[in-house]
Amino acid sequence: MIYRTLFVFVAIIALAACQPQKKEINYPKTDLAAAPLIPKPVKTIATQSAFGLDAQTAIYTSTNDPAFEAVGQFLSEKIKGKTGLDLAVNNTSDATVERLIFINQSDSTDLATPESYQLYIKKDSILLNAKTAEGAFRGIQTLRQLIPEQSNDTLTDHPLWVIPSGKIMDAPKYAYRGSMLDVSRHFFSVDEVKKYIDAMAYYKMNTLHLHLSDDQGWRIEIKSWPKLTEVGGATEVGGGEGGFYTQEDYKDLVAYAAKHHITIVPEIDMPGHTNAASVSYPFLNGNGKKVEPYTGTQVGFSTFDAQKDTVYSFLDDVIGEIAAMSPGPYFHIGGDESHVTKKSDYILFIEKVEKIVQKHGKRMVGWNEIAQAKIDPSTIAQLWSNPKDAENAAANGSKIIMSPAHKAYLDMQYDSLTKFGLHWASYIPVDVGYNWDPETIVENLPKESILGIEAPLWSETISNIAELEYLAFPRLIGYAELGWSPTEHLNWEDYKERLAKQAAYLEKMNINYYPSKLIDWKKD
Ligand code: ACM
Repeated sequence: MIYRTLFVFVAIIALAACQPQKKEINYPKTDLAAAPLIPKPVKTIATQSAFGLDAQTAIYTSTNDPAFEAVGQFLSEKIKGKTGLDLAVNNTSDATVERLIFINQSDSTDLATPESYQLYIKKDSILLNAKTAEGAFRGIQTLRQLIPEQSNDTLTDHPLWVIPSGKIMDAPKYAYRGSMLDVSRHFFSVDEVKKYIDAMAYYKMNTLHLHLSDDQGWRIEIKSWPKLTEVGGATEVGGGEGGFYTQEDYKDLVAYAAKHHITIVPEIDMPGHTNAASVSYPFLNGNGKKVEPYTGTQVGFSTFDAQKDTVYSFLDDVIGEIAAMSPGPYFHIGGDESHVTKKSDYILFIEKVEKIVQKHGKRMVGWNEIAQAKIDPSTIAQLWSNPKDAENAAANGSKIIMSPAHKAYLDMQYDSLTKFGLHWASYIPVDVGYNWDPETIVENLPKESILGIEAPLWSETISNIAELEYLAFPRLIGYAELGWSPTEHLNWEDYKERLAKQAAYLEKMNINYYPSKLIDWKKD
C-alpha cells in the first residue's frame, strides 16, 4: 500500500513537472528560519525559495489509514477558511494540478514519537511525513502557521500564498501538553469549549482537562444519579443559573477534541470540593453539617463521607458512566484542599477511589495532595502547590504533570491592574508565564518523571468566553511552547517577536486576548 501511494506521489510530481512553467515569482517572504512558528520546531533548515499555494494545488494523503485522509480534509478546510481556496483531497483524476501537498505515513526511524513529523517544502511540492495521524495533525499546524494571512498581491488574477521552502524536523518535548477549564465555578457551553480546543490544537497542545464538579456546581449528566445535574447543576459562583453537559454534549466534545487529536481528561473533584454533589444527595456529605447550595468562592469546607460504602458505590456509578464516554487513558479525581477530611479518611478514600478508577480501565490523576496516600506508580500526580508531594510521588514511580500555580495558573492576574483573575499565588505577566523551566522548578524531581505541563484556568472571576480568553491568551501560547520546544530554543526575546505575529490569527479567530504592553503586537 505504501508503494502504491508513493507511486501516485511520484506520478503526480512528474505530471506537475510537465506543466508549462509559470513566470518566476519574486517571493517576498522566503526565509523559513524567520517564520514566526509557535511552538518553535526542533530543527529548521531554510532553502530560500518558496512554494506557491494556489488554486492549482491539491492535497494527497496515504490512503491505508482513514485517519490520514481525515487530516488531509482538516487541512483543506483550514486552507479554505484562511485563503478561500478549495483544495481537493485525494482526487487523482484532476489534470489541472500543478503543485501538491502530500501527507505521508512513514515508518522512518527518525520519527521518534507518535507526534513527530518531518516537513519538506519545495517549489512544487510539500511532503509531510509522520508515523501516525496524530503526528501528521501536529505537522499540518506548522503548515497552517506558514500560510500568510495575505496572498501575494503582485498577481491580482492569480492569488497565491507564499510558503517559504526548506525542511522542518520536529517532535514534542513532553507527551502531555494541556490546559484545564474550570466549568464548575462558572459554566461554559459546548461551543465555547470547542473554540478553546481550536486554539489549543493550532499550538499543538494535546490534552484538555475539564474540571466538571466543585462546591458550586456539578456539570456532567450521570444517568444513574439524575439529581446531580437537576440540583447540583443549577448553581454557580455569584448566583447565576449554572448549566451542565448532557451525556450527548459530552460525547460531542470528546469527538470534537478527538478530531483535533486532543484527549479530554474528565475530573470529578473529591473528597473535598463536593458541596454540589452533597446538596444533590445529602447522604454523601461527611462534614456533619446541613448542606446548602453554595455560590461563594471559599474552599476547603466540604467532604464526602469516606467511611460509607454507599459513597463508594455512588462513585463506582459516576466514574463508570464518565469512563465509558471517555476514550482517553485518564480519570482525574481531584483530591486537593480536602481540609475538613480527617487525614486517615483522606488516605483511605484516595486508595479506594484509585481502585474504582482502575476497575473502569483508567489511569488515575490527582492534584499533588494524593501523594500523601499510597498511590500506585501508574497514578499521576499534578503539581500545583507542594513540591514535596511531587518529589514523593516521583520517588514512588509516578509521573508528574507540572502546573505550579505561581507560574502556570491562567487565572492569576497579569498584574495588579488587570480586571479578572486572582493573585494568591503570584501575578503572572506574559514573560513570567513563559520564563520558567519545568525541569528545574522542583529541586529533586528527575526530569524523566515529568509527563508534561498543564495550564489550568479556574473560573471564580470569569463568567463568559471573552473574560476566559482574556486570561488564557496570550499566556496559553507560551505554555504550548514550553511543553513542545527543546529547552535550548526557549528564549523570551525571540519568543516575544513570534508571539507579536500571532495577533492576526487571534483577531481572525475573534479571540479576546490581553494586549500586554510587553509585546509589540503586529496585526498583519
Ligand atoms: C487547586 O488549585 N486547588 C488545585
